[in-house]
Amino acid sequence: MAKTKEIKTIGVLTSGGDSPGMNAAIRAVVRKALANGMTVKGIKKGYQGLINEEFMDMDRHSVSEIIGLGGTILGTARCEEFKTPEGVQKGAEICRKHGIDGIVVIGGDGSYRGAQKLSHEGINTIGLPGTIDLDISCTDYTIGFDTAINTAMEAIDKVRDTSSSHERCSIIEVMGRNAGFIALWCGVANGAEDILLPEKYDYNEQTLINHIIENRKNGKKHHIIINAEGIGHSTSMARRIEAATGVETRATILGYMQRGGSPTCKDRYYASIMGAMAADLLKEGKTNRVVAQKNGEFVDFDIDEALAMSKSIPDYEYELSKIL
Ligand code: ADP
Ligand code: F6P
Repeated sequence: MAKTKEIKTIGVLTSGGDSPGMNAAIRAVVRKALANGMTVKGIKKGYQGLINEEFMDMDRHSVSEIIGLGGTILGTARCEEFKTPEGVQKGAEICRKHGIDGIVVIGGDGSYRGAQKLSHEGINTIGLPGTIDLDISCTDYTIGFDTAINTAMEAIDKVRDTSSSHERCSIIEVMGRNAGFIALWCGVANGAEDILLPEKYDYNEQTLINHIIENRKNGKKHHIIINAEGIGHSTSMARRIEAATGVETRATILGYMQRGGSPTCKDRYYASIMGAMAADLLKEGKTNRVVAQKNGEFVDFDIDEALAMSKSIPDYEYELSKIL
């Protein structure tokens, strides 16, 4: 049997869109790796920082006071060069030059693809699910989703107050370019009248218009439509709906505020567990794995297997959102 490579020094990076809880994950990676007898280097600005050799030494103190901070202390970036074979080889060579045997990559599916390629170049890699969108197939939980839905829910409640006072229709656009999980959860939690999801693209403006007119006849003071970013066009939609219904209609695009802010307890706790697990997997000499939560348990999968999985909006939950 081949001898397992001993991992002495690891790197940690955050990649793709940031999400609340990434700092809690970084902190756990660093502290568990140190406890496991490994040395840790923080890699700034994702794969771009790896290629540019932007490193910082991480000790226990370097991650003090960050568990409650939004964003990522390491910074994040999107790096086109890393999508090329030359970019990945360069990244692996830089790891060897600096004695980095393994890397924890905190990000989404795209970042996992980079991690998968790096592992094929001989650098042990472990992925952690960091995205507010919940759109990583292998896991029921992603770092940042819980904070994002609570941020959006509170904002929608506020829009609803003013919408009700003015007897308006409000179209509120939430994040999720390809995924409607934020829209679905907030739609249910905020008691929205309509929810528009990219996965269930049956957008019919006339149906919305009829629904608004019917609700108005029944004395409803507001009409909240939660629209996922993937469908978009909230402002023009509002103009057309107002013209067709005679009901004053406004669009609110919540945007990047959903990606920031102090993480919830759940995001801090789960990110801490997952970060520690990543450090343990590297200590065991594992590579090309991702940490996930499935059916209430923390588990790990092969990245190839994880990327081949699919995830969809549960039909029951979507149908229920229309009834409630
Ligand atoms: P996310 O990780 O949130 O899905 P992206 O899809 O933007 O975000 O990916 C983040 C980064 O991961 C990219 O900028 C790139 O550096 C790297 N990446 C994405 N796809 C690949 C790929 N196919 N091969 C290598 N690296 C990739
Ligand atoms: O982090 C995920 C996400 O917020 C998506 O919902 C959104 O489409 C995307 O990131 C936008 O990211 P950026 O504008 O930074 O490319």
